[in-house]
Amino acid sequence: LNKIAVLTSGGDAPGMNAAIRAVVRAGIARQCSVCGIQHGYDGLQAGEFVEMPSSAVGAIVSRGGTMLRSSRSATFRTKEGRICAVGQLKQREIQGLIVIGGDGSLTGAKVLFEEHGFPIMGIPASIDNDIPATDHSIGFQTAVDTALDAIDKVRDTAYSHERVFIIEVMGRQNGFIALEAGLAGGAEAILIPELPVSLDDVCAKLEAGHSRGKKSSIVVTAEGAATAIEVCKFVEAKLGYEARYLVLGHMQRGGSPCAFDRILATRLGDLAVERLLSGATGEMVGDSGGELVSTPLIEVLALHKPIDTARLRLAEEMAL
Ligand code: F6P
Repeated sequence: LNKIAVLTSGGDAPGMNAAIRAVVRAGIARQCSVCGIQHGYDGLQAGEFVEMPSSAVGAIVSRGGTMLRSSRSATFRTKEGRICAVGQLKQREIQGLIVIGGDGSLTGAKVLFEEHGFPIMGIPASIDNDIPATDHSIGFQTAVDTALDAIDKVRDTAYSHERVFIIEVMGRQNGFIALEAGLAGGAEAILIPELPVSLDDVCAKLEAGHSRGKKSSIVVTAEGAATAIEVCKFVEAKLGYEARYLVLGHMQRGGSPCAFDRILATRLGDLAVERLLSGATGEMVGDSGGELVSTPLIEVLALHKPIDTARLRLAEEMAL
């Protein structure tokens, strides 16, 4: 292989740029030219290819978002869309594709590989961290740091005014960000979609703290578990405490990637290129216990990544 392409797809995640940079430079280091595809799978079908010399990825390692832009493509979900995509790649004599994205994007990569046998490698990037066969997806750690920064700031004003604050974080149907940021931020209660949600239980925890003299509290809720506004209204109605809420939203997707995400993205980008050039295909690279691994996409997407309930228990113990 001497010509490959790279795209970013789905929700952007801090560190995607570091991964693009790694793919381009790892390719060049192995005498392989790399093409960028803009706007994810939409751009692939529309033929939005750009040459990526080393200079194209200069000064992006520290930038959030994705310089190639992204999309959630509806047409790529169709057979016709994927036929068109492979046609675009073949027309440009591209011999391999690297997809940087979350579970939806990796599912697209798997289907493209299964239907057309096109050489493909996936790199996990999503703030949600819900992708199996990797301990971390690119962007998760930065999103946790962003949420934690917000929790810490809110804690100052919660303390001063003796209020309860409900903070809603992202994560779709998963509680990884909520659990990690809630544990680090010392939240008095954490709500995640993986476990049954009881607002009565949240109130009981807040009340127990109150009776011990705790005048302010933070509740972290994952968007897939309960909305901040609903928890806030419930707490005010049931306990009569003064409560406020905030929804962190898309700010969790932005910002400069932390060192961990930059290094992970760099290592995974390099490995994806190495695997692809050595003939591997239909795989996703990832990390496991600090080591790099590569797993068939078909296996990755058949797995489910469980939440670490020990961390939730620990967070509860710390809130006593
Ligand atoms: O998958 C990343 C994510 O940010 C989720 O946490 C969130 O539910 C979703 O994307 C939001 O998607 P959109 O940017 O399309 O509103």
